[in-house]
Formats: sequence, structure tokens, C-alpha cells
Amino acid sequence: MDGVETLNLAVPIAAPNLPSFARKQDIDVRYAVIPPYSYIHIYWDKEKNELIYEVEEPELDEEEQEILELLEKGIEEIIDVSFLREKTQDSIISYLQQSSNLILKELNLSVSEESYFKLFYYLYRDFIGLNEIESVMRDFFVEDIGCNGINSPIYVVHRLYRNMRTNVIYKDIEKLANFVEKLAQRSGRYVSYATPILDGTLPDGSRVNATYATEITSKGPTFTIRKFTKVPFTPIQLIDFKTLSPEILAYFWLLMEHKSNILIVGGTASGKTTLLNALAFFIPPEARVVSIEDTRELNLPRENWLPNVSRTGLGPGKVGEVSLFDLLKGSFRQNPDYVIVGEVRGQEAYVLFQGMASGHASLSTIHAESVDTVIKRLETPPINLSPTLVNILDVVAVMTHAIVKGKETRKLKQVIEILNVNPDGSATTNIPYFWNPADDAFYFKRNSYVFRKIMEKSGLSQEELLREFTDRLRLLYELYRRNITEFNMVQQIINLYYKDKNAALRQLGLLR
Ligand SMILES: Nc1ncnc2c1ncn2[C@@H]1O[C@H](COP(=O)(O)OP(=O)(O)O)[C@@H](O)[C@H]1O
Ligand SMILES: [Mg+2]
Repeated sequence: MDGVETLNLAVPIAAPNLPSFARKQDIDVRYAVIPPYSYIHIYWDKEKNELIYEVEEPELDEEEQEILELLEKGIEEIIDVSFLREKTQDSIISYLQQSSNLILKELNLSVSEESYFKLFYYLYRDFIGLNEIESVMRDFFVEDIGCNGINSPIYVVHRLYRNMRTNVIYKDIEKLANFVEKLAQRSGRYVSYATPILDGTLPDGSRVNATYATEITSKGPTFTIRKFTKVPFTPIQLIDFKTLSPEILAYFWLLMEHKSNILIVGGTASGKTTLLNALAFFIPPEARVVSIEDTRELNLPRENWLPNVSRTGLGPGKVGEVSLFDLLKGSFRQNPDYVIVGEVRGQEAYVLFQGMASGHASLSTIHAESVDTVIKRLETPPINLSPTLVNILDVVAVMTHAIVKGKETRKLKQVIEILNVNPDGSATTNIPYFWNPADDAFYFKRNSYVFRKIMEKSGLSQEELLREFTDRLRLLYELYRRNITEFNMVQQIINLYYKDKNAALRQLGLLR
């Protein structure tokens, strides 16, 4: 069959400009994700009183359905599907096309062009994509996808319209188990009865967590996918979202330049990694940066960056495992100026703090709700740091989820400077910044203990340091005011500031 060249299934399309609605009840939007085959329709279901996220795909009649099954079986026989993934999208598509033409010929089947296109969409979806959820994966607006087992609908979290139920449901436990195996395979990991928990990263950077249970009594396997936002939020966007104030960003900019050690704490999904990525914009352009993560989330707009992702071993002997601990130890040999650890959980913390003690700046996150709990976590098993080592931390930033005027937001709640960690585990602190929920305002004071440390180390006078602070604050505020939020633009102007401060200020009209 000719004409398939026009099938552009692999090409990502621009995200549509979706309207906002004051009332959920009024939402009714439809947009293409893989045109002209698959669309998303989001609307209010009056009967069920909830928002529905409907994946619309081409309908197949009975005959087409049968042919599709024949084609899928045939393709599985003639090509090694795992081999396909090594190839480029274009060559995979032509491979699938050749094979299906061959099978159609052999079976002496003829299909109309229209049917052929529809069938090919499904072949593409199932062999190259992620089957029933491929359209959802392609939807720019979807942040999270979750499946709680069979016979309950998959739900999504949408950037604009938030939580919704979808029309995708797994009814067959075996099919769902196969799908979880596929997710594991795609993340280069392995699930089985013996190792039923999957924690991995898909090739596009999305994070997958899944459980593999096939007992008839359970609801079956489950999975959640947190989609990788390829373009991370910039510091200016965080001002825009009212997550933090320009003052605290100017403060962090100085801290980052002078290689302070910063730890971001908060609950699950409170925005720790997002803040970490935003602060990384302030790393001087020529500095050497090493990052270490369990699953790939970070995205830094810089050249001097060595990203590392840990790997779980396969099988009982854990063959090929590379842990955060191994990576971190190795990374110090690469002699980085900055070490970024996506999330500190266990013994790798010890290596990290030792690295800080020997002069490498560090930026990391840890799951904890407050400074007290973080110190406790660092000083007790499995981490077991001594108070002297914990003392090397300069600053703890606390992120939190908050509902402000009925809207879900993320807030940088507090920035806490560690003056001293006492032998009993208590800490003497200074709080230069906090968010006050009562008036939803940020409070900042220039009396900073870390500023004093920076002055001592760098020889800057108080006046010079405060001048720097003020200039950076003006620059950040001007970017915000002019709505300059784009990833590369923000990074460029920060880099320019490092190279030629006056040129950067002049470019924004801040130098008369
Ligand atoms: N300041 C913010 N404003 C709005 N959404 C945010 C903000 N920070 C993070 N998010 C969103 O919240 C989710 C979790 O963020 P993440 O930084 O991964 O959290 P954590 O590292 O604490 O688990 C992501 O979908 C992210 O896009
Ligand atoms: Mg995180």
C-alpha cells in the first residue's frame, strides 16, 4: 500500500492554547494529540458530576479488528520487537510498514487506504508507543497518569483542569501485567513476582512506579507515570507562580555563586526538584557540574554538565547495579565544582557531606517536613552523620504544598540558615526569609549569616555584597516584569551577568 509516507505519527505537535474556565462544569474542549487519529475530549459529565478525560481513537469495525490482530501476530513473528527500539523512529515506521505489507500480501488480504491508515495507527501505538496510554503520554498537558488496577479507570492530572478520570480501563489482569512488564522493559528494568516493585525512567525521562501483582484476589498490577517536563520551570516562572519572591532568588544567586551548600526539603511533590533545577540556573557558566539521580528529572541549560543516573541490577545477584553511593564516589573523582544530588535517601549522604567538607558545593533535596526532622534524618540510621558533618550545610529551604484562595500552589515556605548543629541534635538557626500564609506574602531580611560567611571567604565588603544583591534583584525583577521566562533566555542573561555584568544590566535598561 502506498501513501503511508504521509503518516507522521512520530512528529510531536505544538501544544494547543487551551482556554481557562471559571467553573469546571463549563469545560468542554477537544484537541488533537496524534492528528488525524487521536484526540482528547475533556468535558463535564452531568450524570456522574465529574470531569471526564476521553481518549478518542479511530474506530475499527469487526473485519478491521480481525486484520489488526493478524497483523500484530504476524509482526511479532517476523521481527524482534525489542530490536525495534534501538532504531530511529523513521526506520521503525518503514520497518512496520514493510512487514505489514508483506503479511497482507501473504494472507491475500486487501484493505482500503482508509482502513490501512487506521490499522497502521494501532500498529504504531502498540509496537512503538505505549498502547492504550500512548495518546495520554503525548498530551503535553498531562503531568501524571495513574492506574490502580483492573476495572478502575486510569486517571490523569492535567496542567490546567487538574484531576480527571479517563475512559481508559484495563479489564484483563494479564493484559495489565504485560503492560507493566513493558513499562519495566522500556525503563531498562525488570519486574517479576520476586521483584514486584518498579521504580524507573522511561526513555523520554518520565518516571514510572509500578507494582506487579497477578494474584486473582488483588486488583492486579498498578502503575503511575510522572511525565518528564522536558523544559523545567525557570526561576522567573517560580516568581510568576508566586512560589517565592525575587529577593530570595537574588539571595540564592549569591549563595550559588559562592558555593554554599544548600539542601531543599519538603513532602512528596512539594516542588523540591523543581526548585533545585531553578537554582541550578545560577551556577556560573564555566563551572563543572555533576548531577546524580535515581531517575532522570533534572535538565540544566549548560554545557559543562555530566548527568548520571543510577541503575538497579537485574535478577537476584543484582548484576550491573550502580547505586547513588557508587555514582557519588565516582563523581568526586571527576573533580566537579558543583555536585547536584536529585534526592538523598541513604548512605550516599555520607559521601555527599564529605564532599562538601572538602570544598565541593552541593545542591540536593531530601524528603522531610522541617529542619528538625531533616537533622534527625541525617543523624540517625541509615544515614548516621555526625553533628559536625551536618554543620557543613549552609542553608535549608523548605518547600510546601499550599491551598491559597482555593487554588493549589507550591510555596517556598522558609529559608533557614544553619548557624550550628549542637551535639544534642538541636540547631541554632537564622531565618532570612519566610512565607506567611495569613497574608500570602513573603518576608525577607538582609541580615544573613551566610552573607557574612561569604564576605569572610571572598573578601567582599558588606557594601559590595549588598550592591551585588540589589543589582541581581533588579535584574530578576525586570525579567519578571517583562515576562521573560523562557528557559534559554533566562539562562543567557544570567550567564551574561557573570561574564559582563554591566552588559546584562544595560540589555534590560537597568543601567543609565
Ligand atoms: N512552584 C511550582 N508551581 C507549580 N507547580 C509546581 C511547582 N513546583 C513543582 N510543581 C509541579 O509539581 C509536581 C512535583 O514537583 P517536583 O519538583 O517533582 O516535586 P518533589 O521533588 O518535591 O517531589 C510536578 O508536576 C511539577 O511540575
Ligand atoms: Mg523530587
